[in-house]
Amino acid sequence: MTASSSSPLSPAAWEQRYQEGTPRWDLGHPAPAFQALLASADAPRTGSALVLGAGRGHDAILFAQQGFNVTAVDFAPSAIQALGAQAQAKDLSLQLLERDIFDLVPEFSGQFDYAIEHTCFCAIDPALRPAYVELVANLLAPNGDLLAVFFTHRRQGGPPFGTTPTEVRQLFEPHFEVVSLEPVANSVPSRSGEEYFGRLRRR
Ligand SMILES: C[S@@+](CC[C@H](N)C(=O)[O-])C[C@H]1O[C@@H](n2cnc3c(N)ncnc32)[C@H](O)[C@@H]1O
Repeated sequence: MTASSSSPLSPAAWEQRYQEGTPRWDLGHPAPAFQALLASADAPRTGSALVLGAGRGHDAILFAQQGFNVTAVDFAPSAIQALGAQAQAKDLSLQLLERDIFDLVPEFSGQFDYAIEHTCFCAIDPALRPAYVELVANLLAPNGDLLAVFFTHRRQGGPPFGTTPTEVRQLFEPHFEVVSLEPVANSVPSRSGEEYFGRLRRR
């Protein structure tokens, strides 16, 4: 499922972006939508959580700090190294996987109470979105939740490849109940009006 080595979506291309310096997608802190969720009355109960395309791991660290048993996956070695260093500095224990997300099944099938999505869906080839939905449905335990920040910008091309709430519903509803799908109220200024938070429960 991995893109060819010359593709801008290949592991080598993502690794190069990390090695070139501060990646432009890296907020340097967790997604505000996750921070708000975890501080809210609707905060999910702790459990096992898989962070997809975790990057340097700000979201993974947040969920680990909140008591979740976190597994973080990314195929860029520098991202996983940075995540490991951050976890060590904070004395947190996370399972780190330097892997392609599409290679996680069947090994991790049905193992997670939660999947955490933040700018991974927009980083893969849009043609792989149906496979991504199947993947997440496969990795979650029955009634497990996908907690997702979807990038709904309307610009052409990518990465990041934008989506729409309509597309999210069309793609996910065969396998998920859409518990909520709402605009994010507290996005960082550069993404204001361009994010939706979704809580999607595996059927
Ligand atoms: C836009 S970055 C977002 C990183 C992180 N979620 C964040 O918000 O900072 C996308 C990440 O997904 C990773 N990625 C893209 N496709 C992947 C795949 N098929 N398997 C594993 N990681 C992937 C990239 O290496 C990159 O770290």
